[in-house]
Amino acid sequence: MLRIGVLVSGGGTNLQALIDRIGDGYLDKVKIAAVISSNEKAYAVQRAKDNGIEAYILKRSSYDEQDSYDEAMIRILEEKGTGLVVLAGFMVLLGNRFVERFKNRIINIHPSLIPAFCGKGFYGIRPHRAALEYGVKVSGATVHFVDADTDTGPIILQKAISIEGINDEMELQKKIMRECEWEILPKAVKLISEDMLSVCGRKVYIKNERGIK
Ligand code: GRF
Repeated sequence: MLRIGVLVSGGGTNLQALIDRIGDGYLDKVKIAAVISSNEKAYAVQRAKDNGIEAYILKRSSYDEQDSYDEAMIRILEEKGTGLVVLAGFMVLLGNRFVERFKNRIINIHPSLIPAFCGKGFYGIRPHRAALEYGVKVSGATVHFVDADTDTGPIILQKAISIEGINDEMELQKKIMRECEWEILPKAVKLISEDMLSVCGRKVYIKNERGIK
């Protein structure tokens, strides 16, 4: 069983997608061991509680230094036997200590086709606003491993969709969540839980995709 820790800050629809896919048996080798939220008002916390998952609030502002914040999160995740950390809308930067401790065992979902509209400053609605301003015809979402920088780690999965005809950034955000994020995040977790990924430099190879939808 792969025990995952899910880090959140907001609405938690990606957390919900994981909960739902565990519930319907798709993620049959996955258990959510803990949810950590950087924000006590995040609806994601309610989702965790509603589903009997332990939720911890760790605000960055309660810690003087990045290292002590990292350490507090590491302590919880280690106590819970976490084998994979999933960043699902986590709005706080992770420090080197955290990234080193869970090296190659942290993944993130980003709402654009990396390397477009990503990196520092591209959070929340901003990747979608930038995509519309640029006039791209397709956009989508990316699940990637997390390294010391922002949105730079090896790419596990991407899904692109046509966004022609969409002019509203909120509509675009919803469409990408529904059609891309909620599909590829559980899929990436599934691939990891089945030990089907290998990483070589920037490339992530899927060993045998047969049977994984
Ligand atoms: C998602 O768009 C995700 O891609 C990004 O932050 C948002 C989180 O949404 N990293 P939610 O909290 O999962 O609803």
